[in-house]
Amino acid sequence: MSERRPFLAGNWKMNLTVAEAEEYIASLLPRVSGAEGVDVAVCVPFTALAAMVDSTRGSRVQVYAQTMHEATHGAFTGEVSAPMLTELGVHGVVLGHSERRQVFGETDRALAEKLPAALAAGLQPILCVGETEEERERDETERKLRHQVWEGLQDLAPDQVARVAIAYEPIWAIGTGQVATPEQVQEAAAFVRALVGDKVPEAADTVRVLYGGSVKPDNAGELLALPDVDGALVGGASLDAGDFAAMVNAARRAPA
Ligand code: 13P
Repeated sequence: MSERRPFLAGNWKMNLTVAEAEEYIASLLPRVSGAEGVDVAVCVPFTALAAMVDSTRGSRVQVYAQTMHEATHGAFTGEVSAPMLTELGVHGVVLGHSERRQVFGETDRALAEKLPAALAAGLQPILCVGETEEERERDETERKLRHQVWEGLQDLAPDQVARVAIAYEPIWAIGTGQVATPEQVQEAAAFVRALVGDKVPEAADTVRVLYGGSVKPDNAGELLALPDVDGALVGGASLDAGDFAAMVNAARRAPA
């Protein structure tokens, strides 16, 4: 069996001012301090990154950005680069979230450049992939996942591939309360793992695959116990520090 550490990440999206984030983190830290063996991250707006790096120092909670540009610097108004994030002490970055792809036109080509840029700067990337409701109905889930995983990983060296965490987030389950069934999640997570294995066989067993989409305290335990699911990327329910802590602690109890 592999030694994959459970990984719980809360994606705040465009929520929480710095003042609200400080209040949140003060409530979260004592609740997760006993979660031995679980990696915990909060993925926060750019404006709260520096404050959260400061407030989480010495704790088990890591701080992630929600996107970044592939270039190190240049004429890209409004964008932020990987070195700018590492300068702040940020640990990682979410890349290719479906909201970035759908609302802001982020492409697979740009993502293929963002992954090596993130790793080169020392950031831990979470690559998000997932199908729309129409694609699932048309039985195109695997085709979509294959395309997104292979495009996203294509410019990485073999030894970099296992350092990427991949979040399977079916778009129809995001923010809808309509969580995918354990069977659907396991099937897709195993498929994503196999896709990674097709590219780098030895990475299949070590790459971490997360699930995202309407994860809540009452369904987290069952999802986290699935054999190919190593954690969760939680949106709405992560905004409540008590609920997020409950899910972190569920990851601790879920069998590996
Ligand atoms: P919800 O947990 O709100 O469905 O969001 C999932 C998500 O998009 C995490 O990145």
